[in-house]
Amino acid sequence: MRTQVVIIGGGPSGLLLGQLLLRQGIDAVVLERRTRDYVLGRIRAGVLEVGFVNLMQEAQVGARMLSEGIPHDGIRISYDDELFRIDFARLTGTPVVVYGQTEVTRDLYDARDAAGGKTVFRAENVQIHGANTDAPHVTYSEDGQIRRLDCDYVIGCDGFHGVSRRTIPQNIRRDHEKAYPFGWLGVLSQTPPVSEELIYANSERGFALCSMRNPNLSRYYVQCPLSDQPGDWSDDRFWDELRRRIPPAAAETLITGPSIEKSIAPLRSFVSEPMRWGRLFLCGDAGHIVPPTGAKGLNTAASDVHYLYQGLLSHYLDGDSAGLDNYSADALLRIWKVERFSWCMTNLLHRFPEQSGFDLRIQRAELEFLHENEAAQMVLAQNYVGLPY
Ligand code: APR
Ligand code: PHB
Repeated sequence: MRTQVVIIGGGPSGLLLGQLLLRQGIDAVVLERRTRDYVLGRIRAGVLEVGFVNLMQEAQVGARMLSEGIPHDGIRISYDDELFRIDFARLTGTPVVVYGQTEVTRDLYDARDAAGGKTVFRAENVQIHGANTDAPHVTYSEDGQIRRLDCDYVIGCDGFHGVSRRTIPQNIRRDHEKAYPFGWLGVLSQTPPVSEELIYANSERGFALCSMRNPNLSRYYVQCPLSDQPGDWSDDRFWDELRRRIPPAAAETLITGPSIEKSIAPLRSFVSEPMRWGRLFLCGDAGHIVPPTGAKGLNTAASDVHYLYQGLLSHYLDGDSAGLDNYSADALLRIWKVERFSWCMTNLLHRFPEQSGFDLRIQRAELEFLHENEAAQMVLAQNYVGLPY
């Protein structure tokens, strides 16, 4: 078979790019290793930058996000007995939208079906051939049948564990990684959120986050050792620990219930350079990972989609390859700024095993400065609501 663009990976970045291209009449086939239900079964974050919201609208997939998503004009940060607010509306005039990544992915699949986009599920053993030639092709097996797709471009939207990044020769690729000595234990519960805005808590027992999906679906996280397993944490133990880490007023009003999902995610900062090798482009988690502390994973995948979509559009509509030629540089420029912000937020809000007395006092001084200084709050707010593309 032949198509213009092969997108490997049916997660949010592959589907969003696919939808934008489809609307412009650019043919793209999505190859997804798993089933649709498996992809939709993954619980991920849910804070959307305005750039992401605009891209969903440009792809004409924004209706449910706008009707069910919750605009937030700020976040709250607590440390010791202090609690303060970062006022996005006053500092930037821009909100974020709280809307689960699972819902985003569901909307994108529904839109793709409605538009007749071709998606191959359970596409196994996907392999990329001739990426550094003018005639790349992709092979995969479907129900035991080997299939071949000839194309102009291959887009690797297959996440951190995908085949695309690994297709780029090691002597070309430079991977930069930082692993953090803790994870996040996340719980989803059908309970009203403890706060109308997210609470990021730095406590002597470690980090905690109070987030939500809707008025009766809450998402909470506590920092935990990497050696822990979800089974080590009963619901009671989780709620007790959360109460100890959040501000007393929130702890008193916290409504608990049975967890409907419980998982532990390691924290990692990772960037692979370059984001392009010949006719192969990396997009989203395939090229970079951020710790979730800044809520930037999905949003950074979207900025990659923006640059790639503009590049492919000007190539196919105007025969101009400048956007594609600059893709890696443009995407990495923003990615490193987002990596910096996510790394800063992680250092500011977590307790590290090796932290000395000096480190702890510096961390506290940073929190106090942020609490009292408008310029520092402005910097955080600008990064949190999203840097321009
Ligand atoms: N062949 C085909 N599909 C693959 C392969 C492969 N070899 N390897 C992985 N995939 C699929 C996965 O099953 C997954 O559905 O690629 C998809 C990648 O999706 P994500 O991991 O969600 O990555 P991305 O679309 O870039 O979205 C980034 O996801 O993990 C969150 O925090 C992250 O929010 C960010 C967002
Ligand atoms: C979430 O709602 O799951 C969430 C929100 C903010 C973060 C991370 C996760 O920084």
